[in-house]
Amino acid sequence: MTRPPFERSGSGLFLTFEGIDGSGKSTQARRLAESLRAAGHEVVLTREPGGSPGAEQIRALVLEGEPDRWSAETEILLFTAARRDHVERTIQPALAAGKIVISDRFADSTRMYQGQSRGDLRDLVDRLHDLMIGLEPDLTFLIDMDPEIGLSRALSRQTSEERFEAFGADLQARMRAGFLDLARAASDRFVTIAGDADVDTTAAAIRTALAAHLPGRFHG
Ligand code: TYD
Repeated sequence: MTRPPFERSGSGLFLTFEGIDGSGKSTQARRLAESLRAAGHEVVLTREPGGSPGAEQIRALVLEGEPDRWSAETEILLFTAARRDHVERTIQPALAAGKIVISDRFADSTRMYQGQSRGDLRDLVDRLHDLMIGLEPDLTFLIDMDPEIGLSRALSRQTSEERFEAFGADLQARMRAGFLDLARAASDRFVTIAGDADVDTTAAAIRTALAAHLPGRFHG
């Protein structure tokens, strides 16, 4: 049985994408997966909340329905439960098998959204992470983006999953500032990429940053 927190095993590489809603990080995560696969790497592209059957079920609970359906504390537990299942079933086995895991969002999203959106709960988020998850990415790409543009893109998608988009531009602006602070505080694993360029330019910047930050671990 795996005991918390997780410890890294195997030679895999764990990459995450973070950013505000509509930042284009999902497109960029997919593009990076495609280019690494084309270069011969085994890549698992996954997402949060979700990324395993159980965590996808929790995704529906946290992203659909009334925005104030859960208390802030319950919401932290649900996102962390989803992450625990995702790490157990998807991320950890892939890393142990030496694969590259690319996750569209991970724990930094909980640090931001649950840690900052409804009062200052960051300490609770961090303690729960230490207790139940413990795993950090090798490298995190923060796709930085003007919150107004991000929000209009996110809302134009019109899905039923508008849990956080629904809180508006003010929250998006706070999330952007929070992500930038986080990137500065954990500068050993964060790379901030400007998300307002066209898709190809941003994708090329990400590949260059990956090669520069993890020399020798990556080819292609
Ligand atoms: P995502 O599917 O990445 O949406 P988008 O592509 O619009 O960025 O994420 C869905 C929402 O879930 C997003 O509003 C952020 C939120 N979220 C949290 O609040 N906490 C978390 O821990 C995670 C992983 C996501």
